[in-house]
Amino acid sequence: MNRLPDRVPETIRFERGRLAFLDQRKLPHEVHYWQIDSLDDAIEAIRTLAVRGAPAIGIAAAYALAMSMRDVPVERRTGVLHAHAERLKGARPTAVNLAAAVDRLLALNTHEPELLLEEAERLHAEDRGICARIGQFGMPLIKAGANILTHCNAGALAVSALGTATAPLYLAHRAGRKFHVWVDETRPLLQGARLTAWELSTAGIEVTLICDHVPASLMEAGRIDLIIVGTDRVARNGDTANKIGTLGLAVLAHHFGIPFYVACPSTTYDPDTKDGSTIVIETRGAEEVLGTHAAKVNVYNPAFDVTPVNLITGFITDQGLITRPTESALLRTFRRV
Ligand code: MRU
Repeated sequence: MNRLPDRVPETIRFERGRLAFLDQRKLPHEVHYWQIDSLDDAIEAIRTLAVRGAPAIGIAAAYALAMSMRDVPVERRTGVLHAHAERLKGARPTAVNLAAAVDRLLALNTHEPELLLEEAERLHAEDRGICARIGQFGMPLIKAGANILTHCNAGALAVSALGTATAPLYLAHRAGRKFHVWVDETRPLLQGARLTAWELSTAGIEVTLICDHVPASLMEAGRIDLIIVGTDRVARNGDTANKIGTLGLAVLAHHFGIPFYVACPSTTYDPDTKDGSTIVIETRGAEEVLGTHAAKVNVYNPAFDVTPVNLITGFITDQGLITRPTESALLRTFRRV
């Protein structure tokens, strides 16, 4: 159930004490694993999006933190552990999974590398199960013949196993259901074009790639039946941070009466953030937007936006489907009350 989609490589490998990340900057042209030999390597991999996607950066950080203790003399470990934890948390601010995974290791109150590594492995294994459950709860939404839009990459590459937004698609596909997925490019780093289009088509799902400004006309023409996106942080009330462009899709979906679902693992729900107004949105460098074509002018490059809960039809979670998203439904579903 929670095995990887066919022919899709795994994002994070921890084997015989060695950590490696699939370098997603090189996809789809090259499948290359970056062996992570230091905390600096891990932080650079997270910052530059060699490893990316909310759950994946949490898992990556957990392994990196644990491994970074190996070379530290025992008497210095406690102080260094906390310093390393802060550096990892600072690598990217928006996805709650990163800070939450690091805090989970700190909560063990140990600096023993082996115990920390066991916890990182547990987190990784739990994540596979979470994806499978999201797939099971979301699969009934994938009707035969449907045209489904997804944004950015909330797939196997961003998580482990089946991904989040993609998990219902993979399970429906395995069950023999025929449907079609629109994948938008997701400027400026093209996670849709480079990653999702590649991942889904590699697994045998029918995909069409579109530019980011195409969905409105497709919705108007009745050619999108359902939208499923991932998330980097769901605030206590349901406001949802995800890749820049998600808000625009939600507004359009609302206008055209198209169901708009967020696939949210329990690790991405953040009851400590009251609503979307206080979620820190990462802004990234100008070079990502300028490329080689643009005039050399000022650039504003936010990586995420926040979709208010009233534009969200439902949440597909590992604890069940939430079809009337309210703060109390989210708290109940994630058993935080
Ligand atoms: O900047 P990225 O590529 O890390 O952004 C990823 C997303 O926005 C995903 O939709 C989100 O992290 C969910 S991944 C299951």
